Amino acid sequence: MGRIPQSFIDELLNRTDIVEVIDPRVQLKKAGREYTACCPFHNEKTPSFTVSQAKQFYHCFGCGAHGSAIGFLMEYEHLGFPEAVEELARINGLEVPREAGPAPDPKARARQDSLYDLMAQSDRYFRQQLRQHPQSARAVNYLKKRGLSGEIAASFGVGFAPPGWDNLLKALGTNEEKIKLLASGGMLIEKDEGGHYDRFRDRIMFPIRDQRGRTIAFGGRILGDEKPKYLNSPETPLFHKGQELYGLFEMRQVLRKIERVMVVEGYMDVVALAQFDIRYAVATLGTATTPEHLNRLFRLSPEVIFCFDGDRAGRDAAWRALDNALPILKEGHELRFLFLPDGEDPDTLVRKEGKQGFEARLDKALPLSRYFFDQLRSQVDPDSPEGRARIAKTAQPYLSKLPKGLFRQIMVNELAKLAQLEPAVIEASLCIEPKSQVANTASPRPAPQPARRKLPNKSSSVPSPIRRGVITLLHEPGLAMLATLDNFPENSKIPGLNFFCEIVRMIQEHPGIEIASLYSMLEGSPYHAHLKQLSGQEKLIEGKQLETEFIGILHSIQKLTSSSSIDERMDELFSKAPSQLTDTEKEEVRQYFANHPQS
Ligand code: UTP
Ligand code: MN
Repeated sequence: MGRIPQSFIDELLNRTDIVEVIDPRVQLKKAGREYTACCPFHNEKTPSFTVSQAKQFYHCFGCGAHGSAIGFLMEYEHLGFPEAVEELARINGLEVPREAGPAPDPKARARQDSLYDLMAQSDRYFRQQLRQHPQSARAVNYLKKRGLSGEIAASFGVGFAPPGWDNLLKALGTNEEKIKLLASGGMLIEKDEGGHYDRFRDRIMFPIRDQRGRTIAFGGRILGDEKPKYLNSPETPLFHKGQELYGLFEMRQVLRKIERVMVVEGYMDVVALAQFDIRYAVATLGTATTPEHLNRLFRLSPEVIFCFDGDRAGRDAAWRALDNALPILKEGHELRFLFLPDGEDPDTLVRKEGKQGFEARLDKALPLSRYFFDQLRSQVDPDSPEGRARIAKTAQPYLSKLPKGLFRQIMVNELAKLAQLEPAVIEASLCIEPKSQVANTASPRPAPQPARRKLPNKSSSVPSPIRRGVITLLHEPGLAMLATLDNFPENSKIPGLNFFCEIVRMIQEHPGIEIASLYSMLEGSPYHAHLKQLSGQEKLIEGKQLETEFIGILHSIQKLTSSSSIDERMDELFSKAPSQLTDTEKEEVRQYFANHPQS
């Protein structure tokens, strides 16, 4: 395997908060600016182990243990360096790139360091201008008009970019290299004819800080009605919109225990809510909420509430957010939706209703499942078979995105009730193709919970015949000899069938093969993750009966394949509006439901 690029390790450490890495493993207590605990590396009764969020390292005054997040994982989990990097990347939902060849330019890192420095200088400059610039009264009055206290403005580091084309350029761009850096950080714009000018002019400046509190970008609001109202830094080497959340750092400065997080749309919303002592709001930066954002939030808090405008755009944004959230949702993550009255945003509403009024709304925010099924129900008539079939059909691709687990099972059961189908039928219709597995493992995941694999899930998940088939084979590979592959169609669209057939074929071709070898033969194939996931499952039944069970499973699978052409026909019919169906087609649908199990 190739070398891990240093740039990736830097990036990884940049994205990581050491407190989030250590806290799940060693319960930390906040003590002033640091966190402390009893040292996990030596025996002690009083805590001398400290973790610094600002410096991103841990240090034990007792035994001298000391290091970064990577070092901690190496010591604590007994990992080698590459494994610790892999683990940290996994926590962050990243793939570790590998490269061959010589080490990269160490100057790149130095450049990044000085860009951080210049961003910090810009930040200081804007705050200074808010106090000193001859025109600062306009800015201060604007902030007052919007109800911001000096205290809150200071805690968010609000500043002022004065009018004019080259204030920042003159103040900080004292040599060519600095000008280049400022431009790469998005602070200056290059003119066509050469030279540079300030990106932010005559605006209220909101510094965007990363989770360590370093300023990496800005949002600037115009004082009047000119356009654009807000100007944000572009993507830069330090700033990636899809990852950062405005207000996250500030929230963590104030709250030790974060019971819930609210995601709002605007800078001013976050600041206004803070003004009313609601300190758990963050804003996305002019983008839809990404799974990465959500992972970050769910690592901090079990509950996330999306707050949307009540208008059409808000509703659309909510559905998009739901769709983006599905791949990372599981039991223990609560996601809710709050729709504000038309024409209001959190800023205006909290001013009208105060903290209490606003929180009363929050308490009534819709759980994701309610919102999801309400939306489905509102689109069709759930009292007709056609409507119920459509609900099942519409829900299917969404539920397929949920990772396997209790939450998904609950959603499946809920859908089953609504569509009046057996949960097993719904489960079987969900995609268990390796593709979805890969999507799930590739998307960011929250910190590992070591006990997860041991959770009993007998009652919670009714495996489809194909799942049962694979699980049985993993315990008793020899049974594969009982299957006649010719009975199964090749390249079937039935989820998981190709996977099942592949396993059967491999065992048949290598009688007596160990499951471990099966794994390694599938290494690198999309089936690998799927296999790994099923391998944690317990045997369905014991001993001799396993054979009878497996024969039964083969029959069920065969039944699935012969009914799949009917399913395809039904898919076609369900995709039409009920009013478009001819009488014969309606009769077909009726027949189908008469012949299929309903609860
Ligand atoms: P809004 O237009 O809802 O503004 O934009 P707001 O937050 O209510 O601001 P105020 O109250 O008028 O000051 C919400 C978010 O959309 C992005 C910004 O991130 C803003 O906070 N936005 C909006 C832009 O990036 N550019 C714009 O021109 C407008
Ligand atoms: Mn507003």
